Amino acid sequence: MKIGVLASGRGSNFQSMVDHIRLEVLRDIELKVLISNKSNAPALEIARKNDIDALYIPYIRKRGDSKEECRLHHDQRIVDALQKLGVELVVLAGYMRLLSPLFIDQYPNRIMNIHPSLLPRHPGLHVHQQVIKAGDDVSGCTVHFVNKEVDAGPIILQTKVSVRMDDTEESLADRVLVYEHRTFPKAIQLHADRRLKIVGKIVFVDYSGDWEELWNRRQAAYVHHQESSWADAGKPLAEVLRID
Ligand code: GRF
Repeated sequence: MKIGVLASGRGSNFQSMVDHIRLEVLRDIELKVLISNKSNAPALEIARKNDIDALYIPYIRKRGDSKEECRLHHDQRIVDALQKLGVELVVLAGYMRLLSPLFIDQYPNRIMNIHPSLLPRHPGLHVHQQVIKAGDDVSGCTVHFVNKEVDAGPIILQTKVSVRMDDTEESLADRVLVYEHRTFPKAIQLHADRRLKIVGKIVFVDYSGDWEELWNRRQAAYVHHQESSWADAGKPLAEVLRID
């Protein structure tokens, strides 16, 4: 399955997809292109390093055109690039722009996004701040299909994490991110394996034939890699995930 990733920033979720492919956890998946609306997005650099097409497609506010016209023009350029490459699934990995209906209509139930909360709780921005302010003791991440409502498309997978009494926005963001990096590739593989069935707003996941057990066994290689890369970055997972 050919995938196109859209990202505006750091690109750690994109990096996790690259790692899942390298470690043969994600199978029959080809990352065709990384598209960013920001010229300095580290995600573009990750793509270049891994021989994946890296495209910078800026949003341009043209004088005389309305915001909506400019958005359409931008999205049309992205859709053209994706179609030219035969992309079958669009993945939003920290893409900080809303997609126009034109874009969404081109890829019905074939655009996935990850959000760092348990939707429908805390949509929008500054999510971890919202969670801490609300005093929630559980948070997590959600992978969902993108429809025309913001952060409200059919939910594919969610992973819960505990919120600690002493969590800061940063410590909570890290704990959630660890699971984002494991959850997003799983949703992508389920889609590629045709295990997702959408009925109305509900996504039914077919785990028959030990799908999940086999996935967990494969993903152990990624988890091992993740442990060492977080330790190298000075954030051992034992500490990041510690719950008292
Ligand atoms: C992630 O927290 C994701 O949930 C949100 O944006 C952030 C992107 O991070 N949509 P990265 O660019 O993948 O590191």
